[in-house]
Amino acid sequence: MKKKTMKNNKFVTLGIESSCDETAAAVIFNDREYKSNIIASQTDIHAVFGGVVPEIASRHHLEQINAVVELAVKEAEITFDDIDLIGVTKGPGLVGALLIGVATAKGLAFALKKPLVGVNHIKAHSFAALLENPGLKPPYLSLIVSGGHTDLIDVKDYDDFDVIGKTRDDAIGEAYDKVARVLGLGYPGGPKLDKLATGGAADGDPHGVEFKRVYLEKDSFDFSFSGTKTGVLNYLNSQKQKGNEVNRADIAAAFQLSVIEVVVEKSIKAAQKTKHDKIVMGGGVASNTLLRKMMEEACQKAGIDLYYPSAVLCTDNAAMVGCCAFYDYKNGKEDGLDMDAFANLPL
Ligand code: KG4
Ligand code: ZN
Repeated sequence: MKKKTMKNNKFVTLGIESSCDETAAAVIFNDREYKSNIIASQTDIHAVFGGVVPEIASRHHLEQINAVVELAVKEAEITFDDIDLIGVTKGPGLVGALLIGVATAKGLAFALKKPLVGVNHIKAHSFAALLENPGLKPPYLSLIVSGGHTDLIDVKDYDDFDVIGKTRDDAIGEAYDKVARVLGLGYPGGPKLDKLATGGAADGDPHGVEFKRVYLEKDSFDFSFSGTKTGVLNYLNSQKQKGNEVNRADIAAAFQLSVIEVVVEKSIKAAQKTKHDKIVMGGGVASNTLLRKMMEEACQKAGIDLYYPSAVLCTDNAAMVGCCAFYDYKNGKEDGLDMDAFANLPL
């Protein structure tokens, strides 16, 4: 007799994510009702090296992936037979890491005789907020701020994306992590720097020292963060040489303000130019305290609705991958068992 499960005639997608240092699997009912969202993070393993080591990441994905997928199925109270679609991140990301998720997804699709969809990781980030906002749908302007990307995307429809701005050098999360490292905060530094700068009663002074705001050409929606990052490193070196003590909370606050001011200003201008009344944030840095606060203020002033996912859906997860796979499949996308993984994958 077939085991009774929670499926209840819902369309069930299994999402799998392994593009960087999180091994993740999730079960989604219909378009965006996520029943499980399992994330095995490797952060502690890579922390001793001060950043993600690709070969180590691949090995750990391989060790974790089967258990993570099984747990996602179990927590959703379904069986493997209930799955209707398998969605997996096929890029961009670390190719060796991606291949573990892709191979697992292919194996499941073959064994269960179910369709397979390879998903773009950035597109998935831009869908993460949908999971918590049942009424939210394109068109909107998406701001993706992560460890690997900083993009402004004109999302015209579920399958119609236009990247109108991106970083020309470091991603914003990368700049955060590098500045945090020289401030001695450890890895990953973004959340630690956030906490140091906006730590409540002990908030840093963002105007004790000013760092460069980089806007690039007038009307450009591209970003550049490496100059600001280098400015912070040079300042810290010069203070050290002079034997001056620095207040780390002040430096953290000043750095944050210098990059976030630019991101907020460009996002509002981009929404106005593309005539969107909604901005949807995604990616790890979307959980940053100052970014959320300044975006909320600026959006309110401009009459724009702002959406961002809760912290667990900002960083890498498979619920967003499953959601994206559902819409891609609905729009006619399907991959074969010869699907590859791609380090670079344009939207
Ligand atoms: O989206 P994500 O998990 O991975 C990528 O696809 O890159 O983003 C990770 C990045 C890291 O650089 C991390 O330091 C940063 O997001 N991050 C933060 C915060 N939380 C995570 N940066 C600033 N403030 C935070 N609260
Ligand atoms: Zn990501």
